[in-house]
Amino acid sequence: MTRLLAFSGSTRNGSFNQAILEIAAEGARESGAKVTVVNLADYPMPIYNEDEEGKSGVPENARGFKRLLTEHDGFLIASPEYNSSYPALLKNAIDWASRMEEGDKPMQAFKGKTAGIMAASAGGLGGMRVLVVLRMLLANIGVTVLPAQLAVAKVNTLMDDSGVITDEKTIKQLKNLGKQTAELTMKMNAQVL
Ligand code: FNR
Repeated sequence: MTRLLAFSGSTRNGSFNQAILEIAAEGARESGAKVTVVNLADYPMPIYNEDEEGKSGVPENARGFKRLLTEHDGFLIASPEYNSSYPALLKNAIDWASRMEEGDKPMQAFKGKTAGIMAASAGGLGGMRVLVVLRMLLANIGVTVLPAQLAVAKVNTLMDDSGVITDEKTIKQLKNLGKQTAELTMKMNAQVL
């Protein structure tokens, strides 16, 4: 069965991006993928420093996150836009996961994988600028990024008081992104076999 790992670039309580991620994950599940949703809050890592890595190696949480990435065929990634780019949290996790340890193949966590990317913001652009740079980053580490993507603008107006997204059109679009990511991943896996 095709396995997708879903994670966001926010550890904020009530994160909009974690909320949209859950809906896209549901769409992927409906298409037959097994989806694991994680929160980077459960994998706290120091900011990458090559001297520290030299002394102490890759920290346990970074290694755990890399293991998770390695065990999955593709990813669903929702990222906030911070100053037109991705948050340090997301880049730092990717940087740690890109490090090689004994027995690793180069870029084993990423190479040959697929990703569906999305963003959410209370702003009018929905964080669409982060998707440009996130797409480029992922492509450069060997990830095939689904051509479709979604930036959910004014996301705070699409939710109920408890922070659950209730807007039918948005739910449909997010589920469809999850579905397309699952389908692309299945196709890529079929070609590899
Ligand atoms: C932001 N935010 C923001 N929003 C946006 O649409 N474009 C931007 O360039 C930025 N820049 C930015 C920088 C910094 C440092 C912060 C903290 C915030 C707003 C941001 O998208 C908003 O806080 C989202 O709600 C964050 O996503 P989560 O945490 O709700 O998933």
